[in-house]
Amino acid sequence: MRSETAPAIRLEDYQPSAYCIDTVDLNVELNPTATRVSATLSVRRQTGTPPGTPLLLDGDELTMVEIRLNGAPVAEDSFCADSDRLELKAPPPDPFELTLVTELNPDANTKLMGLYRSSGTYCTQCEAEGFRRITYFLDRPDILSVYTTRLEASKTDCPVLLANGNLSETGDLEGGRHFAVWHDPHPKPAYLFALVAGDLAEVSDTFTTASGTHVDLNIYVEHGKDDRCGWAMDSLKRSMRWDEDAFGREYDLEVFNIVAVSDFNMGAMENKGLNIFNDKYVLADPETATDQDYANIEAVIAHEYFHNWTGNRITCRDWFQLCLKEGLTVFRDQEFSSDMRSRPVKRIADVRLLKSHQFPEDAGPLAHPVRPRIYHEINNFYTATVYEKGAEVVRMLKTLIGAEKFRAGLDLYFDRHDGEATTIEAFLTCFEEAAEVDLARFSLWYEQAGTPVVTAESEYDPDRMTFTVSLGQEIPPVPGQKTSKPAVIPLRFGLIGPNGDDLEVSPPSGAEVAGDVLILDKSHQDVTFENIASKPVLSLLRGFSAPVRLNQHLEPEDLAFLAAQDSDPFNRWQAVQTLLMRDLVRLTALTRQGQAPTCSDNVIDVIGSALLDTGLDDALRALALTLPSEADVAQEIGKDVDPDAIHNAKSVMRNAIGNTHLETLRKFSAGPSGDGGYSPDAASAGKRALANRALYYVAASTDPDGFDLVWDRFASSDNMTDRLAALTLLVHDAMPKRDEALDRYRNRHQDNSLAMDKWFMTQATSPHHDTVEKVEALMKHPLYDPGNPNRVRALLQSFATGNPTQFARADGAGFELIAESVLEIDKRNPQVASRLLTSFRSWRALDPQRSALAESALLRVSSCEELSRDSRDIVDRTLQ
Ligand code: BES
Ligand code: ZN
Repeated sequence: MRSETAPAIRLEDYQPSAYCIDTVDLNVELNPTATRVSATLSVRRQTGTPPGTPLLLDGDELTMVEIRLNGAPVAEDSFCADSDRLELKAPPPDPFELTLVTELNPDANTKLMGLYRSSGTYCTQCEAEGFRRITYFLDRPDILSVYTTRLEASKTDCPVLLANGNLSETGDLEGGRHFAVWHDPHPKPAYLFALVAGDLAEVSDTFTTASGTHVDLNIYVEHGKDDRCGWAMDSLKRSMRWDEDAFGREYDLEVFNIVAVSDFNMGAMENKGLNIFNDKYVLADPETATDQDYANIEAVIAHEYFHNWTGNRITCRDWFQLCLKEGLTVFRDQEFSSDMRSRPVKRIADVRLLKSHQFPEDAGPLAHPVRPRIYHEINNFYTATVYEKGAEVVRMLKTLIGAEKFRAGLDLYFDRHDGEATTIEAFLTCFEEAAEVDLARFSLWYEQAGTPVVTAESEYDPDRMTFTVSLGQEIPPVPGQKTSKPAVIPLRFGLIGPNGDDLEVSPPSGAEVAGDVLILDKSHQDVTFENIASKPVLSLLRGFSAPVRLNQHLEPEDLAFLAAQDSDPFNRWQAVQTLLMRDLVRLTALTRQGQAPTCSDNVIDVIGSALLDTGLDDALRALALTLPSEADVAQEIGKDVDPDAIHNAKSVMRNAIGNTHLETLRKFSAGPSGDGGYSPDAASAGKRALANRALYYVAASTDPDGFDLVWDRFASSDNMTDRLAALTLLVHDAMPKRDEALDRYRNRHQDNSLAMDKWFMTQATSPHHDTVEKVEALMKHPLYDPGNPNRVRALLQSFATGNPTQFARADGAGFELIAESVLEIDKRNPQVASRLLTSFRSWRALDPQRSALAESALLRVSSCEELSRDSRDIVDRTLQ
């Protein structure tokens, strides 16, 4: 018998809790294998709850040691305690005090949910439902309580004792132990609880809020890593200032602590006043972190900090509202990064992420609305749809009502709902009131899954001097949603005249237009512009103003024109991408027909123009030179996908570009003239991105110096960005001395696990045909650790999601490797396993031979009797 699917939780079944818990007093006596947690809860009936109503608390793998009611023992027959539930059958008159003592084994906690140890440091992860692994509780986000946490531990093992809020007391105890008491005055849901205890280095700074309050800032890391915290601290201070400037939000405790741990399921967590981070999003120095790492750290530090208002002060009523905090906070961190760096470059990066992660999710078996209506395991709903599409919906809202009213709506939201657990409806109402608009139809973006396909065809009538755009929209059917209603789609646009300038146009007929935004809200709309003197080129969906697929037929000349002339940098990039994509699809088809295709001149020309365009900064030029990923091409093709043919198409294009533009590319590939040291700022990163992108083409060209240039960059670079770029070329292009390079890299970085993650990842993503066997061998490498999520992701997740030809190898070995690994990892850490399993989500789009092999690997996983809820949920939905 296979494991049961967990019961469905439905939005429509939401009921407020019968009881609330006003305060939580925790006393945690830390011990590696036997930690005692004593929790005293002051419990009260909610209005409407009849006296004596049973109190049901959540638990998960708990061992109960003691229970007391108002200080007195409780009769055996008046409660019932299981590992996953506590029932108090007839509670006394309220308010009453319930004391529960549980015993935990942090060392045995391999799920990394609840209280566990990472390299000897005690830490917690409670979102979404981890607090119930610490004590019995009403573990739901609409139960807000004031927490006081007393920690007790060995003073030598754990000199640092941290919890949420402000420190109120410390002291020494007998037997070499000591304690600390932390009090958090802000009522919060249990998922924001955290504690940390260990022997950690402290990096400190201070911040003064706009209203003059002093805040202590601390970052805690393992000893020896403290010299890599500077960038994170700098990012934190900039985030705090930015939230004041951009949204008027100040910090609200005496101290803000960040702890970096090396074993963490996610990226980072916004626990009130005590953020806990995967150390990959804290630690950086030029020697071991890439420019991308620096940008990620800045964004993740900001994201978790911004949750203090969007998530913590105002939280979610239930987990269906997850996008209320995540989508909004992603939007906020995107805006922050845009202000810190280049706005167009950030927008392009975000859209690339959306298209590569969220679009396939929305087009496959795991599709769900931004606000789901049903789930079996909430951990599986921290998805690209909730996060990235959720952020796009907030962005569209801003586009529709304008920046000023958007800010007014958010101010109202902060004002009205501070201290509450609320809903998407309440959020939208604030904007309806502030902007005096009706958002009923707009709210469909939260309800409907699937990516709308927008079609646009335009016609110029020289006699009547009209320009007509026929627009259409449709959402393809997705699981559980056969039909859909037209969405409200804001399309930012411009009509570009022959000289490249945007035409001044009067409002057209056929659609509502506000400024340069046209609203498409029906399934078909003909929009006509009058008094257009000559045929313009339509630049549509500027800045990617809505998360849709745009089908606009543009001639290659129009695309080349847009690539060179559009005043919108996003659409310039998009025009290049469209040309490249079209040709990659064509080259793939020819490859499959057994022909030896050649790259089209359009592509060669548009790349040549981008290379010479002095109006583009380095980062944008690097982006223009970046070919669509193989996964992107697969998505575009949509069915009967042959990853090998796509890979070949890309090689053909890469070689052609490299050979044709060799001279210019060689010039760019030389990179910045090593004046001054490394700096992680956006302009310097842009220079390195361009140089490394150029080197990628030179390496594929017939240039006899190609290898030497790559080797030289690898051997002589003084920073990880360049070293890793070169190593990747050496390994992925199977260049001479690649093994020597890998050995040198390992010798240099073997004591740095984040740098070694890159070593594993580089090998796992190699398109070489023996990569499956390499990965299998690396799983036996002394540095491989199946208990460390970062290492598992570096080797297996990057293989499954970043190596389309070898994961989908025609003999099925890649699928088998991942299926086997999922089954192994699932026993230890279900969250990491179920994430890995989602890499199968596009299996039905593969060619028949490959999809049959993928299906049999999935069935093998599905037939396992002891599958976790997490993996059971993913495999069931993936196969359905
Ligand atoms: N609240 C989440 C962390 C989280 C995710 C907890 C899933 C439990 C389950 C946090 O704010 C978050 O979103 N972290 C992201 C990084 C962020 C920059 C998008 C993550 O961990 O990937
Ligand atoms: Zn978040």
